[in-house]
Amino acid sequence: MVFLPASKLVARCDISRDTRPSTQPSTTTEQPMNDKIQAVRGMHDLLPGALAHWHTVEQTLREVGWQYGYEEIRTPILEKTALFQQSIGEQTDIVEKEMYTFTDRGEVSVTLRPEATASTVRAGIQHGLLHHQQQRFWYLGPMFRRERPQKGRYRQFHQFGLEAFGWSGPDIDSELIRAGERIWKKLSLNGLTLELNTLGSAQSRATYRQLLVDYFTAQRDQLDADSRRRLEHNPLRILDSKIPQTQELVANAPNILEVISEAERDHFDALCRSLDHLGITYHISPKLVRGLDYYTSTVFEWSWGAAGEPLAICAGGRYDDLVSLRGGVATPAIGFAIGLERLVELLQTMAENTASLANAWSNALYFIDATADHAHSAMSQLAEQLRDHGHWVIAHCGGGKLKQQLKRADQSTAHLAVIAGESEREAGVVQIKYLRENIPQFSVPQRELVDWCNANLSRRGQPKP
Ligand code: HAM
Repeated sequence: MVFLPASKLVARCDISRDTRPSTQPSTTTEQPMNDKIQAVRGMHDLLPGALAHWHTVEQTLREVGWQYGYEEIRTPILEKTALFQQSIGEQTDIVEKEMYTFTDRGEVSVTLRPEATASTVRAGIQHGLLHHQQQRFWYLGPMFRRERPQKGRYRQFHQFGLEAFGWSGPDIDSELIRAGERIWKKLSLNGLTLELNTLGSAQSRATYRQLLVDYFTAQRDQLDADSRRRLEHNPLRILDSKIPQTQELVANAPNILEVISEAERDHFDALCRSLDHLGITYHISPKLVRGLDYYTSTVFEWSWGAAGEPLAICAGGRYDDLVSLRGGVATPAIGFAIGLERLVELLQTMAENTASLANAWSNALYFIDATADHAHSAMSQLAEQLRDHGHWVIAHCGGGKLKQQLKRADQSTAHLAVIAGESEREAGVVQIKYLRENIPQFSVPQRELVDWCNANLSRRGQPKP
């Protein structure tokens, strides 16, 4: 077996070094000329061993998107800075301190996208896709936030997102949560917890904001410095504080559910009933606020991890005002995004999933040609014929002894080795050797190999069920 332990498969994120405060300037221009240039801090290479896992996960995500009628949208990685400032909110951590922003040739301020909801809204309006229409989109791609790197928090990371435009009822909220649940099921991922809340309309939030300002102002002395600053600009974010002393104050703070209107309450109750009906477990967390300012009404987060330090794998909610704020016709909208690094890392830490994910690496036939004339033997023609039929074939190049070639096959991603030595060539057969399973080796006539593969293997060389 050549399956690597999960620890070796994790994207080579050597974050242990990253978490130390850097005393050295990290810009490459300040590196001596003969230093080896390393990747930018908090940005990681995904190497082939880890990418096999990623492909499995990405394929599952795409399939679920399509299963629910969502269509792919791809927006540029670089957008005008104003888009994020005005959509995510000037007073958010993302806009205040995490964006990679620069002036393009001294003309326009641009930013590497920290998320894709704002870009999807921008593209939808720009191309007239949202004008009195209903749309379901999915996207998958890299995002950039200059956060302090640590496990599960990177400066370049990937998100898969679903965004639905044009539906105001709770049925689409429920659909999105069900799509999330389906993804976890398909990946055999257990133990994620779903937190749910509503932030009401802009009007309810204004009332709530004032209640919070009054409450926290009365206890200003006990607030941490960050929360005191937030009290001025964005008091809802105090509810998200990780400082224990502030958390104690938050526990007794007013509750948004006390101030939302009857219609907002009905929407939230209908969503909860729908989830109850479907048997989806959730916790109502009236203090759940999101780090982006565009949310209205329903918000939710799927997390995993020990109590006290759960890590959000997927998060989202409604943003019914964003399309009109960006200049489009008022369009209700809701979406979520999954952090792929966190999802893949979680799957890798769950032992029972490692085996099923590992199967995805065995994905080809390894052609071993130990005949004397290997450079122009019948084996290369056979390999081409198999590729014509859609099979994935890794051909051993460079000759060598059978034992050496088998070792290479073992180290490859292949599931099966197809072997021809001198005696096989003379007999017009090839040997089939299962590399990952304990199945005795056997021979197949060369002229029947394509039929045998078509009948017994999936396109990628895995045995058919
Ligand atoms: P978000 O909560 O900022 O929401 O990010 C969504 C997910 O992306 C998080 O739950 C987490 O899994 C992942 N994530 C965020 N930051 C990082 C990071 N620095 N490193 C690794 N993973 C990270 C949004 O981005 C919204 N656009 C979601 C949404 C879509 N709301 C409506 N539609």
